[in-house]
Amino acid sequence: MPSKKIESAVNQQIQSEFYSAYLYLSMSAYCQEIHLDGFAHWLQVQSKEEVGHAMRLYNYLNNRGGRVILQTIDRPPESFKSPRRMFEQILKHEQELSKAVHKLYKLAQDEKDYATEVELQWFIKEQVEEEKTAGDILQKLTLIGDQPATLLMMDHHLDSRE
Ligand code: FEO
Repeated sequence: MPSKKIESAVNQQIQSEFYSAYLYLSMSAYCQEIHLDGFAHWLQVQSKEEVGHAMRLYNYLNNRGGRVILQTIDRPPESFKSPRRMFEQILKHEQELSKAVHKLYKLAQDEKDYATEVELQWFIKEQVEEEKTAGDILQKLTLIGDQPATLLMMDHHLDSRE
């Protein structure tokens, strides 16, 4: 059974993952509003992945005999200025998530909770991917600049995400 400290920190991380899902869904709605349907699709898939992350921790805590206590999820922002500015926010958000996972990992080490350490190793690797993906898209959007035709080609490309 995890300690109360670990239980509370994992519950906090579950909330952050659900908030991420909410944030990306809000970004998807923004993209739909500006007719970038490929970006909107990509963000919906991303939102579902975040629910998957939350549920992975939810199931982990249950399996360990901990108690899941769902927290309030804040209202996400609703306007994002441009796709490039939006991806700046996504990258920053993922970097914050990585920091939170690392902090949780450190707590697991301090508490000598080896099972939680092992569980979090998956998240540490996943965050490397998450930051790379957001960073790559941001770089492309910076290169595209103010060229609508190229932006539409990228929109088409993002629409193929499974
Ligand atoms: Fe759950 Fe995008 O990290």
